Amino acid sequence: MKQLLLILFFGSFISCNKGFSEKEKQEYMVKGNEIAQASFNELSTNLMTQMKAGGPAKAIPFCKDEALNILDELSKKHNAIVKRSSDQLRSCKIEPKERELEVIEAYKQSKENGEELLPIVEIDLENKKHFYAPIIVQAKCLTCHGKVNETMTVKTDSIIKSIYPFDIATGYSEGDVRGVWSITFN
Ligand code: HEC
Repeated sequence: MKQLLLILFFGSFISCNKGFSEKEKQEYMVKGNEIAQASFNELSTNLMTQMKAGGPAKAIPFCKDEALNILDELSKKHNAIVKRSSDQLRSCKIEPKERELEVIEAYKQSKENGEELLPIVEIDLENKKHFYAPIIVQAKCLTCHGKVNETMTVKTDSIIKSIYPFDIATGYSEGDVRGVWSITFN
């Protein structure tokens, strides 16, 4: 019985990776990178427009109402599921998958070891292709994800806590791993 299960397990593994050639993998890598970059630009441009118009008091509610809609639009446009995932969430609408948490943990480990954080392309047991890339904290993110009383004001923190009472997405420094882009191709 044990042997049969092993054969089934490895059998499905091999058949899954069949047809996923190096060339195809590279194509998904390019596509994934393009989508992640375009999505980052879209969110960032919108966020910065709001910040200029009214600072965090305007940009935070905007993120709450629009971040997921913007990602939905991007998903439709690119014929893929475009998602941001994190192990320290602000939005309660994001459900991190086990694999995403593993990838985040691996990126954090790589960062600690001083290694380069490279995007990942892989295929799952249902033959779905996935792309992951790290989301790194930049200086401009600290306004809303930084350390309270250091890089983030108490006022901004209180606006965030009033909208997101369970927020744990603060305390970051520049260069930290904030989460991952998790793109599933249709
Ligand atoms: C004006 C404040 C503000 C700034 C600046 C900001 N964020 Fe956020 N961020 C938010 C809010 C609010 C949410 C929750 C959005 C929602 O409800 O969907 C969020 C959510 C996220 C999420 C999704 C995971 C989660 O915790 O919900 C990631 C990833 C993220 N931000 C990364 C960044 C990065 C990287 C930067 C800098 C490039 C940045 N943010 C800059 C306010 C901000």
